[in-house]
Amino acid sequence: MAKILVTGGLGFIGSHTVVELQNKGFEVVIIDDLSNSSLDILDRIVSITGIQPIFEKLDLKDKLGVQTFFQNHKDIKGVVHFAASKAVGESVNEPLMYYENNLTTLVYMLQEVSQLEDSNFIFSSSCTVYGQADTLPITESAPVKKAESPYGNTKQIGEEIITDVCKVNSDFNAIALRYFNPIGAHKSAKIGELPLGVPQNLVPFITQTAIGLREQLSVFGDDYPTTDGTCVRDYIHVVDLAKAHVVALERLLGAKNESNYETFNLGTGTGSSVLEVIQSFERVSGTKLNYKIANRREGDVIAAYADTKRANEVLGWKSELSLDDAMRTAWNWEQNIRKNS
Ligand code: WQD
Repeated sequence: MAKILVTGGLGFIGSHTVVELQNKGFEVVIIDDLSNSSLDILDRIVSITGIQPIFEKLDLKDKLGVQTFFQNHKDIKGVVHFAASKAVGESVNEPLMYYENNLTTLVYMLQEVSQLEDSNFIFSSSCTVYGQADTLPITESAPVKKAESPYGNTKQIGEEIITDVCKVNSDFNAIALRYFNPIGAHKSAKIGELPLGVPQNLVPFITQTAIGLREQLSVFGDDYPTTDGTCVRDYIHVVDLAKAHVVALERLLGAKNESNYETFNLGTGTGSSVLEVIQSFERVSGTKLNYKIANRREGDVIAAYADTKRANEVLGWKSELSLDDAMRTAWNWEQNIRKNS
């Protein structure tokens, strides 16, 4: 079966995608610099699938290292590129680190993938490119707005770089997947989201508060023009998201598509408020969450949820797992990783 490279393959979405690729019979090679993960995740992947991926610790800023890697793996048929820094707040304080780590590395990757016999490239993008969309649900033709952060800018620029490569090279096939809010964990509770330090994102902060790692969750504002005053997002189960990557890759490996560069929104198509996420957690965990209403967070959009029509009809994929499924697996994962620590 085809050999697939997954960069950032020991990360949150990366590790779940490796599992789903192996489940479909692909031979997986992982590159990860372990800056936001650990080798333990590799063992956990093997404990789920029983299959040992090839692993190389490599910082993609090492241009010679990237070139050498591809010299040794000329038979790669597709690349799923997750490796990037992704903390919005950090990117505001460290813009150059983000432009170097997310874009210089992308250029080095594209230079090598262009030389392969089969150039098939899946790019990890984000709904953050839309900012506060003018209309909801958000379609792929919604205008890309000025990024609210250097992180978001690296996703916009990344898409533009790949578009330019595909324009000049009709043999280079790429799909950009714009994730909404990935949450949850594998049903085995062996892999999941493991943010370093204080979580920036809602769901890991909820589960860390419930397990006693954090004192209290602050809900950033309840005076927004939404049903209950809290912000609305499209929370998609990470396993559904991982499966979408396999479907997108199979699309690139299959017959020629109408364009050699396509973009898909990956969400559930349903918006959930912060309070609804908390209620879901309390329902599935049977515990009351300790939270308070705090001030708004700078840069938050009021509401964002996906129009999933293109992903459903063109990609042939739709999300299947519910918000409760995601909160239940997130909680099981949190309890599992803390019981041994
Ligand atoms: C969700 C909602 C917060 C924490 C970000 C990135 C996006 C993507 C996903 C990488 C918001 C509220 C949060 C807390 C809260 N990342 N919240 N208390 O900001 O929608 O998206 O993560 O690709 O690019 O921008 O996700 O989980 O941070 O926030 O009330 O302690 O939860 O205000 O309304 P966000 P989030």
